[in-house]
Amino acid sequence: MQAPRTVTTAVIPAAGLGTRFLPATKAQPKEMLPVVDKPAIQYVVEEAVRAGIDDILIITGRGKRSLEDHFDRNFELEYFLGEKGKHAQRDQLVNIAELADIHYVRQGEPLGLGHAISVARKHVGDNPFAVLLGDEWMSPDTPLLENMIATYERYNRSVVALKEVTPEEISRYGCAKPEPVSDRLVQILDLVEKPDPAVAPSNLAVMGRYVLTPEIFDALAQIEPGSGGELQLTDAIALLLQSQAVYGYTFSEGRYDTGQVLDYLKVIVELASEREDLGPEFRAFLSDFVRTRDL
Ligand code: G1P
Repeated sequence: MQAPRTVTTAVIPAAGLGTRFLPATKAQPKEMLPVVDKPAIQYVVEEAVRAGIDDILIITGRGKRSLEDHFDRNFELEYFLGEKGKHAQRDQLVNIAELADIHYVRQGEPLGLGHAISVARKHVGDNPFAVLLGDEWMSPDTPLLENMIATYERYNRSVVALKEVTPEEISRYGCAKPEPVSDRLVQILDLVEKPDPAVAPSNLAVMGRYVLTPEIFDALAQIEPGSGGELQLTDAIALLLQSQAVYGYTFSEGRYDTGQVLDYLKVIVELASEREDLGPEFRAFLSDFVRTRDL
């Protein structure tokens, strides 16, 4: 068996059309929507960096050039801020460009999440890698990815983030058939994409964080279109687990789907009320709002 290695590469698929967020996403990527005052995808990149990742491949598509601009230097703006004496703001911009080595590849055709990951093959090579879905926000208070990478290092096998949802919600997610291993860890015996609640093997849903062994690319090359007529990462993992164990790391707190309007609003309220600069006034506004509207 290959010696366990750590994970230093992440793939962030960001090629989706963002139809759940129209018309805001008609002319801008959903990943660039501001969550308080940072684009959603910057939180995801920062999460990867916190977990020790220094090489990031973002899978983009048409109309996603602003993503590249965001993680690049902007000398004009930096010069302008410097001239105005706004050094803290300027340094903040420079830091964004220095977060990690960020690379881009275009998906070409929107054939599904599985296809988006398969275009990362050349970049990733024969290494384990993390996948972070670009429109899911995970709280820095729960070091989910760090724990998943530690699990990978222990077993040398793929690890998928799992969270309990209600039976009605399960049809929106990948769903795992689990076998308990230890406290938060299960072995995944089967994985089904967006099952009918009546036949779902559990209420453990796949959330947008994965640590994958490079053998996933062979599985991705073999799968046929699945749910929604798309090539599904879930189906490739279901194939992978027939030849090597795949684990599920369960968690319960601190995840929002920023590509969905209600979750987007919730995460903004949570983050804004915790901010040192905005929090006091915003919290006062919120309690006043709730009280006076009799909510
Ligand atoms: C994707 C995955 C699904 C996973 C979900 C998490 O679905 O295919 O398995 O549960 O992300 O958000 P999507 O939301 O892109 O339809």
